[in-house]
Amino acid sequence: MAKISKKTVLNMYRLPILMSRISRSILTLVAFSFISLSSSFAADTTSSAAAPATTPALDGKGEQLFKENCKACHKVHGESVGPGLSGVSKRHDAKWLHAWVKNSTVVIASGDKAAVALYEKYNKAAMTSFPTFSNEDIDAIIAYVESVPEEKPIVSTPGNEGTTQVAQSGGEYDTIVLTLIVIVLLLVMVAMFVFLTVIKRYLKDKETSLDGEDKELLNQKFDIKAFVSSKGFISIVALIFICVTVRACWVSMQEVAVEQNYAPIQPIAFSHKLHAGDNQINCNYCHTGAYKSKQSNIPSLNICMNCHTYIKEGPKYGKLEIAKLVDAYEKGTPIRWVRVHNLPDLAYFNHSQHTQVAGLECQKCHGPVEEMEVVKQFSNLTMGWCINCHRETAVNSKDNAYYDRLLKVHEESKKKGAMTVEQIGGLDCSKCHY
Ligand code: HEC
Ligand code: HEC
Ligand code: HEC
Ligand code: HEC
Ligand code: HEC
Ligand code: HEC
Repeated sequence: MAKISKKTVLNMYRLPILMSRISRSILTLVAFSFISLSSSFAADTTSSAAAPATTPALDGKGEQLFKENCKACHKVHGESVGPGLSGVSKRHDAKWLHAWVKNSTVVIASGDKAAVALYEKYNKAAMTSFPTFSNEDIDAIIAYVESVPEEKPIVSTPGNEGTTQVAQSGGEYDTIVLTLIVIVLLLVMVAMFVFLTVIKRYLKDKETSLDGEDKELLNQKFDIKAFVSSKGFISIVALIFICVTVRACWVSMQEVAVEQNYAPIQPIAFSHKLHAGDNQINCNYCHTGAYKSKQSNIPSLNICMNCHTYIKEGPKYGKLEIAKLVDAYEKGTPIRWVRVHNLPDLAYFNHSQHTQVAGLECQKCHGPVEEMEVVKQFSNLTMGWCINCHRETAVNSKDNAYYDRLLKVHEESKKKGAMTVEQIGGLDCSKCHY
C-alpha cells in the first residue's frame, strides 16, 4: 500500500477550506436576498398609507372614509362648506367629535356652546349625520386628517375610492409568504454563520500545516470596497433589482380593475344580515330579476314599503335609518344605492342563465350575503374566475329537455366524465364578449 504523502494530508484540509468558501458565498447571497426582501416587505406593508406609523390612519381606512364621506364638504386645510379639519383634535376632545360626527344636530340641540357657535358661524348649514360610523371609524378619519401635511394637499383621482381596499386584500397573502421567506432566510443566515465559525476554528488549530493561499483565506479580513466593486456583487444587485421590478409590474397588472371585497357605504344602512339572515326574507323577494332576466335588479322603495309602512324602528339604528327610507318614499326620490358589482361593458353576463338554468345558488358567486351587514364583492369577477368555473362545473341537465340530446351525444363520444360547461361551448369568446 502506498504511503500517504504529506501533500495528500494537506489536501484533506482542502475540504473544510472549500466548505468555508462555499458557505461564505451562500452567506453573502442569503444576506442579500434577506436585505432586499425585507425592504420590499416593508414597502409592501406601508405602501398604501402616506401617514406616519402608529396612527390608525395607517391602513388607509381613515383616508378612504374621509374621501368618501367628508370631502364633499371639508378640506383638510382651508375652508370649504365646513371648516378645514386640520387641528380639529386640538379644538375638540374625542367624545365631542364622536357625538358630533354621528349626529351634529343632537349636539347643537343639547346647547353645547362650541357646537352652537360653529353652527351659527357656518350659517346654520347642517352637517350630514353618520350614525353608522363606529368611534374607531371617526378616530381613523381624524388621525388621517391630522397626518396630512399642509403643503401637500390630498391628491384625489376620480374613481380611486375602493382601490385602497383592494390593494390591501391582495397584499395579505403576499405578506404572509414574504414573512415566511424572510424568516427562513434569517435562519439559513444564522446557520451558515455558525457553520463558518466552527470550520474556521477547526482550521485555525491546523494553521501551521496550511499553505500560503489557504492561510490567506483563513485570515482574510472583510474588504468592503473590493467587495462592492466586485463583479459578483454588481450582478447580484442587478438581478435582484430586475426581479423586484418584474414582480411589482406583474402584481400591479393583476390588480388593475379588480375590485374584490369592495364594500361601499350605502346611503341607507341596509343590512342583508338583518333581512335575508335574521328575518329569512328570500333573495328573490327583493331581487326579482335574478331568476328571470340578465340583470338582477335592486328593489325599488315600493318593495321596502311593503313592510316598512308598519316597521318604523330597527334594532340597531332605531327610527333613524328607516325614517330616511320613508322620507324618500313620500317625496318620491329614489335612493341612490352605490353599485357594488360591475363587469366592464365588453363582457356579457346573464343571471337567469346561471340561477334558473344552471341552478346555481347566489352564494356560489356572491358569498354568504345573508351574513353581511354591508354587502361586498365576494368574487374577483375576472375572466379567469368565469372560465375556471366553466371548466369545472357539470351542466345541470335535470328536467331540461334541451340538454337531453346533447347529453346522449356526449355519453356516446369517447369523452369520459360529466359534461362541463366548457364542452357546451362555455369557453367560446363570443359567448361572453360582445
Ligand atoms: C354636507 C356637508 C358636510 C359633510 C358631508 C360633512 N360635514 Fe362636517 N361640517 C359641515 C359644516 C357645515 C360644519 C360646520 C358646523 C355646522 O354648520 O353644522 C361642519 C363641522 C364639522 C366639524 C367641526 C369642525 C371644527 O372646526 O370645529 C367636524 C369635526 C366635522 N364637521 C367632521 C366631519 C366628518 C368627519 C365628516 C365625514 C365623516 C363630515 N364632517 C362631513 C358640513 C359637512
Ligand atoms: C329586503 C330586500 C333584500 C333582500 C331580501 C336581499 N337583498 Fe340584496 N340588496 C338589497 C338592496 C336594497 C341592495 C342595494 C344596497 C346594498 O348594496 O346594500 C342589495 C344589494 C345586493 C347585492 C349587491 C348589488 C350590487 O350593487 O352589485 C347583492 C350581490 C345582493 N344584494 C345579493 C343578495 C342575496 C344573495 C340575497 C339573498 C341571500 C339578497 N341580496 C337578499 C335588498 C335585498
Ligand atoms: C319583508 C319585510 C321587509 C322588507 C321588504 C324590507 N324590510 Fe327592512 N326591516 C324588516 C324587519 C323585520 C326589520 C327589523 C325590525 C326589528 O327587528 O325591529 C327591518 C329593519 C330595517 C332597517 C333598520 C335597521 C336597524 O338595524 O336599525 C332598515 C334601515 C331597513 N329595514 C331598510 C330596508 C330597505 C332599504 C328595504 C328595501 C330595500 C327594506 N328594509 C325592506 C323587514 C323588511
Ligand atoms: C355565476 C355567478 C353568479 C350567481 C350564481 C349570481 N350572481 Fe349576481 N352577479 C354576478 C355577476 C358577475 C354580477 C355583475 C354583473 C354585471 O356587472 O353586469 C352580479 C351582479 C348582481 C347584482 C347587481 C345588479 C346586476 O345585475 O348587475 C345583484 C343584485 C345580484 N347579482 C344578485 C344576485 C342574486 C340575488 C343571486 C341569486 C338568485 C345571484 N346574484 C346569483 C354573478 C352571479
Ligand atoms: C360558479 C360557476 C360559474 C361562474 C363563476 C360563472 N359561470 Fe357562466 N355558467 C355556469 C354554468 C353551470 C353554466 C351552464 C348553464 C347552462 O346549463 O346553460 C354557465 C353558462 C354560461 C354561459 C352560456 C354558455 C353556453 O354555452 O350556453 C355564459 C355566456 C356564461 N356562463 C357567462 C359567464 C360569465 C361572463 C361569467 C363571469 C362573469 C360566468 N359565466 C361565471 C357556471 C358559472
Ligand atoms: C365565460 C366568459 C368568458 C369567456 C368564454 C371569455 N371571456 Fe374574456 N372576459 C370575460 C370577463 C368577465 C372579462 C372582464 C374581466 C375583468 O374585468 O377583469 C373578460 C375580459 C377579457 C379581456 C380583457 C379586456 C380588457 O379591457 O381588460 C380580453 C382581451 C378578453 N376577455 C378576451 C377573450 C378572448 C380572446 C376569449 C376567447 C378565447 C375570451 N375572452 C373568452 C369573460 C369571458
